[in-house]
Amino acid sequence: MSKKKHKFTYYLKQLIPYIVRDKWLFLFGIFAMLVTSSLRLIDPLLIAHIIDKSVPDKNMAEMIRYGMYFVGVIAITGILSYVQVLLLSKLGIKIITRFKFNIFRHLLKLPIAWFNEQPVGELIARVESDSERVRGLFSHLSITIIGNLVFFVGVVVVLLVRESKVTLYLIPIIIILAVSYYFLIRYISKFYRKIREMNADITAKITDYVQGMPVVQTLNREDCIIDRLRVSSEKKKRFEIKTSFIEYSASSSFLFVFNVGLVALIILITSPKIIGGLVSIGTLFVFIQYISRLIWPLLQISEDVMQVQRAFVSLGRILELTEATSEDDLHRGSALPYFEEDIVFDHVWFAYKDEEWVLKDVSLTIPKGKRIALVGASGSGKTTTISLLCAFYPVTRGQILVDGVPLTEINLRLWREKIGLILQDIFLFPGNITENIRVYNDDIPAEKVRQAIGIVSLDDFIEKQERGLETELAERGQNISQGEKQLISFARALAFEPEVIIMDEATASIDPQTEAKIQRSMNEVLSGKTAVIVAHRLTSVIDADQILLFRDGEIIDRGTHFELLGSSKDYRRFVELQLMPTENTSE
Ligand SMILES: Nc1ncnc2c1ncn2[C@@H]1O[C@H](COP(=O)(O)OP(=O)(O)O)[C@@H](O)[C@H]1O
Ligand SMILES: [Mg+2]
Repeated sequence: MSKKKHKFTYYLKQLIPYIVRDKWLFLFGIFAMLVTSSLRLIDPLLIAHIIDKSVPDKNMAEMIRYGMYFVGVIAITGILSYVQVLLLSKLGIKIITRFKFNIFRHLLKLPIAWFNEQPVGELIARVESDSERVRGLFSHLSITIIGNLVFFVGVVVVLLVRESKVTLYLIPIIIILAVSYYFLIRYISKFYRKIREMNADITAKITDYVQGMPVVQTLNREDCIIDRLRVSSEKKKRFEIKTSFIEYSASSSFLFVFNVGLVALIILITSPKIIGGLVSIGTLFVFIQYISRLIWPLLQISEDVMQVQRAFVSLGRILELTEATSEDDLHRGSALPYFEEDIVFDHVWFAYKDEEWVLKDVSLTIPKGKRIALVGASGSGKTTTISLLCAFYPVTRGQILVDGVPLTEINLRLWREKIGLILQDIFLFPGNITENIRVYNDDIPAEKVRQAIGIVSLDDFIEKQERGLETELAERGQNISQGEKQLISFARALAFEPEVIIMDEATASIDPQTEAKIQRSMNEVLSGKTAVIVAHRLTSVIDADQILLFRDGEIIDRGTHFELLGSSKDYRRFVELQLMPTENTSE
């Protein structure tokens, strides 16, 4: 397939820039590899010389000299292989670190829509293992493969020169053995793939169970889960045992044929010639030495070739990732965002995919400085509306205008700078409270962080902490309450001084005191700002300058609280539900 071929060279081309940055490391590694491969050919020849010449001549001085050469060659080979391994693993680590970094940098710029379609956790894990495979390409694979090929060619040449007939017998046998070993390895690798899949399956299960631990323990499901895991592990165990049996039986048979069979064959072929004086004992020695040195590379080359194939598959997957269209490519608008008047949704239609309309002909106006509340049942399109406002997705039909300029023509980063988004699912980053409030943006002075904290009345909470603002927030914020998380997210929005606050109200049940506190903080956060709030609390709605009532992707009623109380049956129903305490937390 020409496409595949194109891809292979394409992949190589992608790697070149990474190698070029460390070209000396690379070139020296290659050089060391060539020298060691050639040196490995020489030492048997030195011994052969001693056997064939020095011993019959009883030339002691020459024996000692050749003995010294022998020691020298071995020492240099050892040192060079050591240096080569060191340099190349360094090269591999450097290249792959840069490589992974570039992938992550690209990931950060991918559109939200892309993340919706990807199981991101799985993806990151795959990048990790794929990169490891690609690393092998630099650190040892290419080197051992090329080195062994050089050695193999060298062996064939030297043997042909010394004793062409015997060599010509041997070569086809060796090649046939190597090729059949390759097929054996390929066969066995299928088993290994299956084992990896089983492993992944078990790991995924365990992860899920651990995440659901409170449920597991309260429902006393521990035994049941152990049983399920036992079944999977048993299955995997039996399969692994079978695999290792096949693998070791087959590879020991091969080793036996190589080691014993080939050597016996050589002796068989050469003995008559040695007796007839046609072949020297030194040559026999060289043959046996070379063959024994070839065994390992020949067995190894099958595995190496497959590893290279896998590395290229991995490389392909990674490169595919870096080719995914980034936001910079999608959203090329360059106009500066001026927001002095209003934001207008002008007959906006939107579908996440195809023609499954989630928003149908939505028109609305958000005047500067006003507070707009979106209410409506779950799934009616409120979150989608604010996602469009943040330009996470392009609108399918119609347009969004900021002071009359289409959002698509506005510079995306600058537009987002104006927005403070507070989501339903509050996200905490790994780090302490300060870092979470300014999201690693050191341009925001500590004073402003303090101020933001004061406005949302988080001071009490922070004073209670031993390390104050330096308090580390545990993974996913498990060491703080839902309400405190909410306040941190308010402080975060404030610290960035946005012009427009967009808020998807949390629906998690929060106690009345915290609720009141959050309400107060919210009013502080919103005062004087343009705000779009997906509102579940009546209190957020009453103060709104306009309420938009969503149903099935359409705005069915709009007005202030009191206007709607009079005119909208659906709104009255919404208010009634709010007033019933048991329904207060439902959505
Ligand atoms: N990322 C998404 N991909 C596909 N469909 C989605 C996505 N997000 C929301 N939807 C669908 O769009 C509709 C509106 O959802 P949403 O805007 O989240 O409603 P609300 O915030 O009012 O509860 C729902 O039917 C929901 O299933
Ligand atoms: Mg929502």
